[in-house]
Amino acid sequence: MSGLVDGGAMSSNVPSHNLPFQRWYRFKEAFSPMLVVEAINTLGFWPSTCLDCFGGSGTTALTSQFLGIAPTTIEVNPFLADLIEAKLSTYDRASLVDDYAAVIDRAIETKIDLRSIRFEQWPATMVEPGLNSRWIFPKETFRKILGLRQAIDEIVSETNRRLMRVLLGSILVDMSNVVISGKGRRYRGSWQSTQKSPEDAMRAFQSAFEAALVDITLHGKRQSSDYMLFRGDARTEVSKARSIDIALFSPPYPNSFDYTDIYNVELWVLGYIKSRDDNTQLRTSTLRSHVQIHRDMSWEGLNSKRLKKTVAALSAKRAELWNPQLPDMVGAYFADLNQILTNMRPHMNPDGAVLMTVGDSRYSGVLVDVGDILFELAEGAGYVCEAITPIRAMRTSAQQGGERELSEDLVRLRPA
Ligand SMILES: C[S@@+](CC[C@H](N)C(=O)[O-])C[C@H]1O[C@@H](n2cnc3c(N)ncnc32)[C@H](O)[C@@H]1O
Repeated sequence: MSGLVDGGAMSSNVPSHNLPFQRWYRFKEAFSPMLVVEAINTLGFWPSTCLDCFGGSGTTALTSQFLGIAPTTIEVNPFLADLIEAKLSTYDRASLVDDYAAVIDRAIETKIDLRSIRFEQWPATMVEPGLNSRWIFPKETFRKILGLRQAIDEIVSETNRRLMRVLLGSILVDMSNVVISGKGRRYRGSWQSTQKSPEDAMRAFQSAFEAALVDITLHGKRQSSDYMLFRGDARTEVSKARSIDIALFSPPYPNSFDYTDIYNVELWVLGYIKSRDDNTQLRTSTLRSHVQIHRDMSWEGLNSKRLKKTVAALSAKRAELWNPQLPDMVGAYFADLNQILTNMRPHMNPDGAVLMTVGDSRYSGVLVDVGDILFELAEGAGYVCEAITPIRAMRTSAQQGGERELSEDLVRLRPA
């Protein structure tokens, strides 16, 4: 990142996983609520509405509610969309506690027959005996989890049901034999001797519920309780947003982190995806920021010299890249961001602003300078780029040396 650099660095998006609501689900890529507050403070005006096109764990929307700003959020991943809505909802505590007690009673009584579940479409490693002596969940623990899921499905209140489903989702990876990292799933060291029991699952669900209840009790009242949530692909859904004072969001970075893959355990076990087709469809609805599946990566008509130069430099090194689609993916990534900015523009308050947290990438020594490319694309989408403020330095991948040399920036655009 060079060019239009604003004064001092913003406070970094330090992990805030123990904060109320943030602790409901360990979402690695969440930014801290402080980042939202600080970004809004750079504006010089106080917005009434705020759009987040890439909701994730809902930090922007939830912080907006606390600040009295009406949030609109878009999220393509149905589990994450439920997580966001669970955080933004208002609850009747008495009915929540009653529903929880009923779930526990039903889950204790229910004996799920695994043979009755259609496993053909599930990843073969999902449950013991798995495939090639590997499985994600021990059999009895998985039965208990499905028992909880069935008991949750019987809750009449949609709001309570959604919260409980999200809380069950929050314990899944801890109850499994895998851990999730930026690279995807891998088995825990000595997982065979440290597998979780059905009782562990019940205890973990209880702890998750208790923590959520404390957060709802202490922080349920907010300056704004309104919200709008669009479940789907931001590239098209963004046209539904209205009266946008500010858009404050963090798109996936062009670094091949595949969000569908990372949240696959929750998506399958909670029934958000039921077939391989569902999985593929979700993957093709996500931003073209990764190359795990083969997709159309066309991106013609973008007016940025720096982007063209970057893609040309990557294409020249195609043979040495770990995936030959990478140069096209980088072009497609900016085409998607450009489409979102363009579709959002007619619904923006002319005095409003767009605040985007973006991160650079590097492939075979070629830097993808996201801030500078957006600076050039802004005009064509109907904006001027006012500032690019460094937030922190990220590490490159191990193949690129693993040094802290990639910039993460806050890009501020204003409608032209
Ligand atoms: C970097 S995360 C956002 C994190 C968020 N700022 C937070 O604090 O939790 C990006 C999110 O964009 C979502 N996403 C990816 N492609 C999308 C699309 N086409 N439309 C809407 N959301 C998308 C991913 O599922 C992921 O949750």
